[in-house]
Amino acid sequence: MTHLAEPPARLVGEDLQVPCVDGVDRRYVNLDAAASTGAFPVVMAAVEQFVPMYSSVHRGAGYKSRLATAAYESARATALAFAGRGPDATAAGDIAILCRNTTEALNHLAYRLRLDPDDVVLTTVVEHHANLLPWGRMACRRYVECDEDGTFDTDDVVAGLDQAPRPRILALTGASNVTGWLPPLTAILEAAHERGVPVVLDAAQLAPHRAIPGEADYVAFSGHKLYAPFGSGVLVGPGTTFAEGDPFLAGGGAVDLVDLDEVWWTEPPDREEAGSPNVMGAVALEAALAELGRIGWTTIEAHEQALARRLRHGLAAVDGVRVLGPPLDTDTLAIAAFVVEGVDHALVAARLSAEWAIGVRHGCFCAHPYLIRLLGLSPADVDAYRAQVMAGDHRTMPGAVRASCGISSTEADVDAVVDAVARIAAEAGKGQAPPVPYVQDIATGDYWPVSDEPGWRGHERESGASCARG
Ligand SMILES: Cc1ncc(COP(=O)(O)O)c(C=O)c1O
Repeated sequence: MTHLAEPPARLVGEDLQVPCVDGVDRRYVNLDAAASTGAFPVVMAAVEQFVPMYSSVHRGAGYKSRLATAAYESARATALAFAGRGPDATAAGDIAILCRNTTEALNHLAYRLRLDPDDVVLTTVVEHHANLLPWGRMACRRYVECDEDGTFDTDDVVAGLDQAPRPRILALTGASNVTGWLPPLTAILEAAHERGVPVVLDAAQLAPHRAIPGEADYVAFSGHKLYAPFGSGVLVGPGTTFAEGDPFLAGGGAVDLVDLDEVWWTEPPDREEAGSPNVMGAVALEAALAELGRIGWTTIEAHEQALARRLRHGLAAVDGVRVLGPPLDTDTLAIAAFVVEGVDHALVAARLSAEWAIGVRHGCFCAHPYLIRLLGLSPADVDAYRAQVMAGDHRTMPGAVRASCGISSTEADVDAVVDAVARIAAEAGKGQAPPVPYVQDIATGDYWPVSDEPGWRGHERESGASCARG
């Protein structure tokens, strides 16, 4: 296997030491980048530099307010360019709405598209709940199914597009948060546009790893997944979508005039951003997008492709481990969702954390329909675990373990998780118990080691993260 040079970037907190149940402190290995990433050092520097200038945006006459407003609007322009919009984007009518995250962006859009309950939104079974649930509240959903390997092809999407009635929109992920699979976006965008169907691209996972195709009509992404963890998100789309009708949020900053019985909304994007804007988040976001631009997609992709190969092949070579998703040589993000034969996914994740200081996620990754398919669960399996969950018992919730790399991940990080998983699988194969006992929480399904070591004592358990929610 070829060896990588240094990763393209380091993040704040990279050398954090955390306690393990054997009493040893180890460097924290963050393999949970698909959930949230650390911050670029330039993001922290930009935030610190901006703090003295912090002031109200769009609602202050003072000099600091003018600076804060300019910083906020500059971030908006950068976000638009990052979403593949050229320098004439505003003239072409595209706008960027700054919000909290991808979930808010997609809910916002689902509300603003003014769908009828009978309208059809074509989406896929691969989606994160954020790109499934908002559509179900506003319209009928039609689904593109996936194969056993968790993929579909352009023809499957075309079949959904050609079914009557014609969908009002296609809502599609740019990259799976579970398997890292990259749907054939170029061909799908072309097919949808040939049929006059606009495409909503959930770019939450795509944005940190690959360029966003400028052809996507609407784009949503989150700052906290691309090294700017300060609570910002972006929704990009044609201004005309937001020109008529009530905004998603009503309040200050979104209006021209208000009477006690009447309101005259202002123009988008301000119309869509009621309330005081998150200017610190915007400053952080702009710094992160600029840093990704400086590093460049060629470098980012080469690094991540090498890690993806190492991670997915490494895990798949372990006896008793099954990597979910497309064939190993498929070009995916550096993500692997996997199961270890005979060991609950929650126990694997707990052991990686408590014994090796490796942070991963387990469960269904906010993509329940996709996991059911990837795990090949029968309707009877699904009924059985659902009955238990409805009764408050998450212990039999099915799922997988997910290791996900980011821009600062190294080969050593990948090797660490592969080696640790190999140990867990080998011990399970021989029927050996872990070095410390683990207890499972009924309400979350998570495991906790029985230990007197600092950081792992019983009373410290409440602060433990829960993967039960999805
Ligand atoms: C593909 C995908 N879409 C949407 C989301 C929701 O993002 P957020 O939690 O930032 O709103 C996520 C988060 O994991 C995701 O992976």
